[in-house]
Amino acid sequence: MGTSSKALKELKKGFSTSRYPDGSSYALREALAKQHNINVNNIICGNGSDEVLSLFAHCFSGPGDEVLYSKHGFLVYPISIKAAGSKPISVPEKNYKADVNAIIKKASRKTKICFIANPNNPTGTYLTRNELIKLREKLPKKCLLVIDSAYAEYVEENDYSDGIDIAKKYNNVATTRTFSKIYGLASLRIGWAYSSKEIIELMNRVRLPFNVNTLAQKAAIEAIKDKKFLDKAKVHNKKWKPFIENKLKKMGLQIVPGVANFVLVKLKDEKQANACYSHLEKNKIFVRKIAEYGLPSFLRITVGLKNENIALCKSIFNFLNK
Ligand SMILES: Cc1ncc(COP(=O)(O)O)c(C=O)c1O
Repeated sequence: MGTSSKALKELKKGFSTSRYPDGSSYALREALAKQHNINVNNIICGNGSDEVLSLFAHCFSGPGDEVLYSKHGFLVYPISIKAAGSKPISVPEKNYKADVNAIIKKASRKTKICFIANPNNPTGTYLTRNELIKLREKLPKKCLLVIDSAYAEYVEENDYSDGIDIAKKYNNVATTRTFSKIYGLASLRIGWAYSSKEIIELMNRVRLPFNVNTLAQKAAIEAIKDKKFLDKAKVHNKKWKPFIENKLKKMGLQIVPGVANFVLVKLKDEKQANACYSHLEKNKIFVRKIAEYGLPSFLRITVGLKNENIALCKSIFNFLNK
């Protein structure tokens, strides 16, 4: 869907390249506080939510500690956990969805953080608000629950929570967001987290002083104002995700029911998934192999523009019938 025209217009206005950015991202935090009805002091911005996630790992875990995440969870978690010197504990999932009871069972006094992507990348599955609350209640109090809501804007299910209401209630919950997905600002690297004042203050001690560049801050502020762009992207996804899913199901392929802006499709086995990937690549269609997520026979397909989605379905049909 590209990027909000309001954000692009702001980028073209020009700015001082010789001056440092606002190290506290204050104007952006103010805009986020207003948008989500939260306190400006409970927000931290980062160079993509990747940086914020890594800050959590470095700030709250270290050698001798354990950090939980679900088996097919977002890979930045184990990368950041290992970089922080702590031990990543991957917990098996049920039907490609995080298993709350299994996570609770793995928690111990050593557990410092639990990362949950909600919905998760690459599975697209999500935990309901009640499941997240159960997880929070049953995890040790000293274990921080980080709810990564990178795809929150796409989710319309009534039992879904982007984590903000939960982080308002519990001082040991944090939720992260990004401008890389629905806002289409991935190249500028801008993400943020909301949590209790105590948590955010500790994160600010570890954060580098000028972690978010001026362009990113300015573009994000304008992107927040562009509700029309956001609504258009949501409507588009609501139409084309089921379109792709239905077409692939009709071809006899299994789909994992997800709620983000991509489709997770299962091929017969790893060999077929790789062959399908190469076939699509030859047709200049780029999807994602996800063997490193423990899903070698799956492909993750991000919803594209109308003609791209139609071409994708045709190309997979041709691959299966050649
Ligand atoms: C679940 C999840 N969280 C966080 C991110 C990181 O996004 P960014 O660093 O671009 O904000 C991604 C990106 O793919 C993601 O899928």
